[in-house]
Amino acid sequence: MIPMIDLKKNYLTIKDEIHQGIGQVLESGQFILGKKGLELEEKVKDFLKVPNALSLASGTDSLHLALRALGIGRDDEVITTPFTFFATVEAILYVGAKPVFVDIDKDTFNIDPTLITKKISKKTKAILPVHIFGHPADMPTIMEIANEHNLKVIEDCAQSFGASIGNQMTGTFGDAGCFSFYPSKNLGAYGDGGMVVFKDSALSNEIKRLRNHGSLGNYVHDIIGINSRLDELQAVVLLVKLERIRQYNENRRDCARFYSEFLKDTSVVCPIERDGYYHVYHQFSIRHKDRDVIQQNLKDNGIASVVYYPIPLHLQRALEFLGYKRGDFPVAEMVSSEILSLPMYPELTSQEIQTICKTIQKSL
Ligand SMILES: Cc1ncc(COP(=O)(O)O)c(C=O)c1O
Repeated sequence: MIPMIDLKKNYLTIKDEIHQGIGQVLESGQFILGKKGLELEEKVKDFLKVPNALSLASGTDSLHLALRALGIGRDDEVITTPFTFFATVEAILYVGAKPVFVDIDKDTFNIDPTLITKKISKKTKAILPVHIFGHPADMPTIMEIANEHNLKVIEDCAQSFGASIGNQMTGTFGDAGCFSFYPSKNLGAYGDGGMVVFKDSALSNEIKRLRNHGSLGNYVHDIIGINSRLDELQAVVLLVKLERIRQYNENRRDCARFYSEFLKDTSVVCPIERDGYYHVYHQFSIRHKDRDVIQQNLKDNGIASVVYYPIPLHLQRALEFLGYKRGDFPVAEMVSSEILSLPMYPELTSQEIQTICKTIQKSL
């Protein structure tokens, strides 16, 4: 049996530190917005080289509150990708704005920047690229377009902690970078968690209030906020894993190299890494016309695989009201029908990858 991700295997390598940190929190009696959360924010700022970081209860909240703090609201349009997890678009809708989709690049699965400009209207206020599967979106081009049209940029970094272009980390190109610490993420907690990082320190108090019922903690409520605070136990887990994130990402990259090597003479399309980009392979996602046959064969041999994402967002029933139809985003539709994510985690061995690849070859 080879799972998609093996969190227990990882836990056993960090068990002592996790238990020690949890013990400290339990003894302190401070469970929400305490020392560990602050330490995590400081360490994330150092790691990403960004001036501001605030911990939150989830990646979805991070997108939601970043949009709100940046003043995106009712009837504004936000340009984004139809090939992402549903939460990206939920956050846009939470603030009353309208998602406007742009098709993706077939090689990186990220928003295709050459198609953005023609979707910009008088109502467009922001671009929300997603660094899908851990490959950075083309931020230099996206920032150029945003600057030219005076648009905000909110990066969905839920799958890209530590990914970079040149020396610059994802999350630090735009006005805000939004991270998820959902357990299966490449930097994952043992429950929900998230973080927003941003350039403009003037937003700090606004986001602090938004995450805490509109109050800075003194029972004076100037605005209506939400409850979105990271708890101290999750901060402990994240601090332990943040120490090791470089190695974890390097291990993922090694796994990706093994996969690509073992699959190189087959009809399987392996993910690419653009020159100068640092892919963190949150997922290793192959493309093949016979994707379903491959998946069934893997399953029959005890190997997990998942289709992220079977339906592009413009064709999801919940978003019918946006008025899109099949054929609107042909690349996203093609990718959704061919994509398959294979097991990927830092502890995955080259032997296991070889077994997976041999099983794939047998189904071709
Ligand atoms: C691309 C993307 N955006 C947003 C989210 C939402 O994050 P969360 O589950 O922490 O709310 C996720 C992950 O779940 C994601 O993969």
